[in-house]
Amino acid sequence: MQRSGAKVILLMAGFLLAGGAARADDAIEAKAKVCAGCHGEQGIPMQKVIPVIWGQNAGYLFYQLRDFKSGARKNDLMSPIAANLDQADLLPLAQYFSKLKWPNLGQPPAPDDVAKAAQTAAASVGCPGCHLDHFQGDGTTARLAGQNHDYLLKTMNDFRDGTRGNNPGMSDLMKATSPDNMQALATYLAGLQIDAYINQGQ
Ligand code: HEC
Ligand code: HEC
Repeated sequence: MQRSGAKVILLMAGFLLAGGAARADDAIEAKAKVCAGCHGEQGIPMQKVIPVIWGQNAGYLFYQLRDFKSGARKNDLMSPIAANLDQADLLPLAQYFSKLKWPNLGQPPAPDDVAKAAQTAAASVGCPGCHLDHFQGDGTTARLAGQNHDYLLKTMNDFRDGTRGNNPGMSDLMKATSPDNMQALATYLAGLQIDAYINQGQ
């Protein structure tokens, strides 16, 4: 009698926990709706200078939300959004977007000469040492492959001139990269769309 009573209580606790988790997911999904206004209903950003966040690495997304909220990274469009988010929602939002499928923006592969210039520049600075061989990144390091071309170029320039000041290491690397090589890197990285290294969503 006592044992079956304990079982019922355990079962009930299980239902309550499952229900609580589902409600938390619903709440995050509702909060994520505002993001679609700029980052896109299907993960394709509304403007070329807005980054893809669907399928981006969770640790990286979390760091950016944290940095926009603290003011370590600033942007006229994104900072006010982050300011209005609850601190406790940053990690769940990062995890939510990281699980969605990275979209194909249909950007063409770089022409051979541009790809060669980009690969040479990448090798000399050692980009793959952190962003990995297929520029898929990992954890708190950003995926670059298939990212919006104009955003890539803008954010590399922002690192270079200090407009984006949340990672001094990346700023130093961009200062060591010529503007021509930065152009080549943006075209090359934007055109990488290798299915095997793309988060297919869950
Ligand atoms: C009004 C437009 C707008 C809305 C709404 C918006 N964002 Fe953004 N977001 C941007 C722009 C623009 C950038 C790029 C900022 C820059 O160039 O530094 C950005 C950048 C980001 C980044 C950094 C990505 C990277 O690759 O570095 C993350 C993460 C992000 N947004 C998450 C969100 C989330 C989560 C929401 C919803 C809660 C949201 N954004 C809503 C415009 C918006
Ligand atoms: C020592 C490790 C390291 C190396 C080497 C490195 N990166 Fe990064 N990179 C990072 C990290 C970490 C971030 C995330 C920074 C942050 O949190 O804001 C980043 C961010 C970026 C971003 C911003 C992505 C986004 O979505 O906004 C771009 C673009 C980028 N790196 C390009 C490059 C290129 C091109 C090279 C080579 C020329 C390079 N990186 C070399 C570690 C590195």
